[in-house]
Amino acid sequence: MKRFALLLILVLPVCIFAEKFKGLAPTPPMGWNSWNTFTLKIDENLIKETAEAMIKSGMRDAGYNYIVIDDGWEAMERDAQGNIMADPNKFPGGMKALGDYLHEKGFKFGIHNCGGTKTCAGFPGGRGHEFEDARTYASWGVDYIKYDWCNHGTANAEETYRTMGNALYATGRPIVFSLCEWGTTKPWEWGRDIGHLWRTTGDIADCYDCQEAYAMGWKFILASQVGLERYAGPDHWNDPDMLEVGNKGLSLPEARAHFSLWCIIAAPLMAGNDVRNMTDGVRDIFTNREVIAIDQDPLGKQGYQYNMPIGGKEIWVKELSNGCWAVCFFNNSDESFKLRINWSHLSFVKGSYEIRDLWQKKVIGSTDKNFAGKLPAHNVILLKLTPIK
Ligand code: GLA
Repeated sequence: MKRFALLLILVLPVCIFAEKFKGLAPTPPMGWNSWNTFTLKIDENLIKETAEAMIKSGMRDAGYNYIVIDDGWEAMERDAQGNIMADPNKFPGGMKALGDYLHEKGFKFGIHNCGGTKTCAGFPGGRGHEFEDARTYASWGVDYIKYDWCNHGTANAEETYRTMGNALYATGRPIVFSLCEWGTTKPWEWGRDIGHLWRTTGDIADCYDCQEAYAMGWKFILASQVGLERYAGPDHWNDPDMLEVGNKGLSLPEARAHFSLWCIIAAPLMAGNDVRNMTDGVRDIFTNREVIAIDQDPLGKQGYQYNMPIGGKEIWVKELSNGCWAVCFFNNSDESFKLRINWSHLSFVKGSYEIRDLWQKKVIGSTDKNFAGKLPAHNVILLKLTPIK
């Protein structure tokens, strides 16, 4: 009986408590993920060419350092010992060598798998293999796991993610754990001690306002983030899904607006385009360091919707370090309108601030004067307010 009690004391903490590496995501992770553009059409060459293109375009140096291989990298079956394997045709050099390559180029290595029996695309999932898979990933030099939620049967989400989180922690290799549970069981309420970020919705689609069976345009995703800001902070971020910037379904202004608002809500900035073939306009969005700095501000506060929008006129704000604020005026309507702002009506404006337009890259005045501007449909004006001492 005594021995049984001792065993319980030893085993219980492992089952109940979640272990996670601290300090891996003080600001929202940034990088690139293969899914939005390439789905299952991925291989070693694509990953290497992407890494090269991210260096050449300045994306790596602007902070996009995780390269994440999404669904479809696995062989259809595990090996005879039950180990997960990469598809030898797509990744002939193996994952360890690819991880080494990425590390040498100054990137971190991310990979996707799933808490269910199979991934969404039908490749082997992690259920029941969590500890051995975590050891395999650690041996390949993986730095980031996106863990999906297809084919989970009756499994409990929190339990499943806790098990995988503990398995990753047990390897001793610091690995960012990205919970891709689509917001189904409100991971923002239980994910904080388990992972570093959690998806809050189903998939993003390559459009402004379309709605597909399992995916939706960024405008709808943004709307569903209202109220989630209080759950986010350093090492525990809401993830409204990867970026569609640079993909064909968004105009350049829509892509700029998408990027601006993802920065306001402190979203992970995971590019999802073909970075080997992007226009200068798209590259300029990804590499605007002043806009990225809004997302990556060390205060680590997610921004929020400031007003009850009327006629598609939305104001989103984010508190920044050193008393600064980011303010994003968003025209969520199909008509352009004139914007008039009396800064003294905005409660967070206390005293005078210098106003810098982050897309025009210039100071445009101060909050002592009313602001007026034209705002075309689906577009934003993104400003940084800095207190005048
Ligand atoms: C789910 C995820 C996507 C992507 C696919 C891959 O739909 O939400 O981000 O990883 O699976 O199959």
